[in-house]
Amino acid sequence: MESVSTAAVTPDRWLDEVEAPAPPRAAEHDLNSFYYSSSDDVLAVLTPYNAWYDEVRPQGYFLLGQPMAAAPRPHVEVQEPIGRRRLQLLNLSSYNYLGLSYRPEVIDAAKSALDRYGLGAAGSPILSGTMEVHDELQNEIARFKGTEAAVIYPSGYSTNVGLISGLMRAGDVVIMDQNAHASAVDGAILSKADTRFFRHNQPENLEKQLKKVGGKKVLVVVEGVYSMDGDVCPLPEIVEVTKRYGARIMIDEAHSSFIYGPSGGGVVDAYGLKDEIDIHLGTFSKALGGMGGYVACSLQMRRYLDAFSRSRFFSCALSPVIAAGVLEALRIVQREPELRARLWTNVAHMRGLLAAHGVDVGESTSQIIPVMVRDDRRVMGIGRRMQDSGLYVQPVKYPAVTKNRSRFRISISAAHEFAQLERASEILVSVLRQEGILT
Ligand SMILES: Cc1ncc(COP(=O)(O)O)c(C=O)c1O
Repeated sequence: MESVSTAAVTPDRWLDEVEAPAPPRAAEHDLNSFYYSSSDDVLAVLTPYNAWYDEVRPQGYFLLGQPMAAAPRPHVEVQEPIGRRRLQLLNLSSYNYLGLSYRPEVIDAAKSALDRYGLGAAGSPILSGTMEVHDELQNEIARFKGTEAAVIYPSGYSTNVGLISGLMRAGDVVIMDQNAHASAVDGAILSKADTRFFRHNQPENLEKQLKKVGGKKVLVVVEGVYSMDGDVCPLPEIVEVTKRYGARIMIDEAHSSFIYGPSGGGVVDAYGLKDEIDIHLGTFSKALGGMGGYVACSLQMRRYLDAFSRSRFFSCALSPVIAAGVLEALRIVQREPELRARLWTNVAHMRGLLAAHGVDVGESTSQIIPVMVRDDRRVMGIGRRMQDSGLYVQPVKYPAVTKNRSRFRISISAAHEFAQLERASEILVSVLRQEGILT
């Protein structure tokens, strides 16, 4: 086997060592660009990838995964890996839509659970890993979502993977919105079901797909709010067409549960369609400020998932410390509806500020606001300027979104003050103008 050094090398050197097509222009790579090699060594791919990484890091890629010094509040201290500066930034990046990750009551609940249970669950949920707090959280989620039962998982990702791969089999069909989250796509791939996509938020295109697969078991997968574009699913039309074709429907409310609808029940609550949905899925990592995921469903489904959802029972149960914090966060959501009201007031304020300057926010109508840049080569560099100007916003580019739809994805929280949003919009607008993105 040819051996290829994985030490950091320049692009010129790695081209000598590994026969490959021309190197990807730094900011235009996609991950497949690195999956070639004249070597039969699995690790040969590391050399060109690391050469690319060394080249693009100074161009702004260091913005990804920067360590924060404390909780994701409206102001954060973020470490800059290259300049080694500690930056004080206005935070428009966190999923902490209700500011619950650092609420004193949530922290106290987690601390008490730490004292009582210790750090981890130390077992699979179907063996020795279920503790009383897990059962309490499951019961509370089921009550909140108005379903017979609920099942919790260690992450939102593993919830989608375990639910879809547990329910579907080769020969079945999964039809999902083309913008569905990677975890739903991965669950479908793992299930070996025939996986198809319908055009984003287009019920008439879903109908076309449903027509083609008559006679099979079909699961339709949609999201309440789409995580990259911040637009809402046209649920009444999707439900109508799905039912007309006798298929089942699952909704992932990762970004809409606990904030949408009169009681925070999600987009299903906002549309009054809760009982029309077969499977409700969501995460604890966004509005509740914790981590983990849930399926809210029938008791029959819960029993089935306990037996067939591999990402659940072949993985350690959610930490009891997190479960206790999430349970308290869920109670706060129910006793403080004013938190949701404050979030939506803030969202309206920020949308108004951006609209007044003609900022392109795509199709978003939610607390997730994409500030469109549409220039894959420049988005990271512009992100660096945003940070230099005091704003913490996330640059997003392919493969997280399709090519040439790069953007800064901003998230609004109930914890923001109007003055902070006004300052943030001033910075955004000023940098976009300097860069010629906004005229
Ligand atoms: C729609 C959707 N589903 C699932 C997930 C995965 O959730 P988690 O990050 O809690 O694992 C995400 C994460 O962003 C998401 O946006």
